[in-house]
Amino acid sequence: MITHFSQLQLTTVSLPGVRQFYHDLLHFPVIAQTDTEIRFQPAPHLTLSFREALEPLRPAHLAFEVPYSQFDHVIDRIQRSHIPLLAWPDGRTVDDFGGRKNVYFRDGDGHLLEIITHSYITEGILQPSGELNILYLREVGLPVESVVQFRETLVRLFSLKLDRLEDDFTFAIGGTAHFVIVSKQRRWIPIAMAALPPSLQVTLGISRLECMETVMNNLKSEGISYDFQEDQLYFTLNGFDFCLKITDFDDGIPKLLNLPLSR
Ligand SMILES: [Fe+2]
Repeated sequence: MITHFSQLQLTTVSLPGVRQFYHDLLHFPVIAQTDTEIRFQPAPHLTLSFREALEPLRPAHLAFEVPYSQFDHVIDRIQRSHIPLLAWPDGRTVDDFGGRKNVYFRDGDGHLLEIITHSYITEGILQPSGELNILYLREVGLPVESVVQFRETLVRLFSLKLDRLEDDFTFAIGGTAHFVIVSKQRRWIPIAMAALPPSLQVTLGISRLECMETVMNNLKSEGISYDFQEDQLYFTLNGFDFCLKITDFDDGIPKLLNLPLSR
């Protein structure tokens, strides 16, 4: 049903600061800029936008997937931009375990970014994009009071699949999109960053109108109000703004990528 993260909107206290970090250092193409918002396109099927908010920020966590064969090269690019990689308590910055490698760094607002790669992902299905060879936005972190309750709501609404079912941590997965549902009590690795629920809007891609109708019916039966405008469905869950949108991201891609829960 859900194919991918199509858009993520976060907040910033400095649009020029965001532009310097994401455009000048990470080389994300800017596709729109106004007095209150800037929008980047890290990959053809993904936009990342920042809205100016005159309030204290609660930093978000997001992770971009890159090809396994390109990981070292991507980390090299990041280091050449003099962006400090965050260290684990033992001092290492790259975590390499069981065919999964990742690094973390922060933007000027403190949002916690991750570059992640998995050896099981079939290369050549999605074209790596930009200087960082981004395939797609893999993770968006959602800190909540009750992980169990929230993951069950997501399963009922979107038929997401679950992985790593722990009381304070779970992946809720639809296509390439992995929500990281964490307890507000559990801190983000590797720097023990407090998991405060960020202000964000996440747009989920779907491939068919029937999916939209199914979610609308599910929202109705849960008693959750929604707005349907210009073919997009808007609603709020646990303080997070969601949007559903039909895109041309083929729903066969997650399986072709060899994502474990799409095989
Ligand atoms: Fe992560």
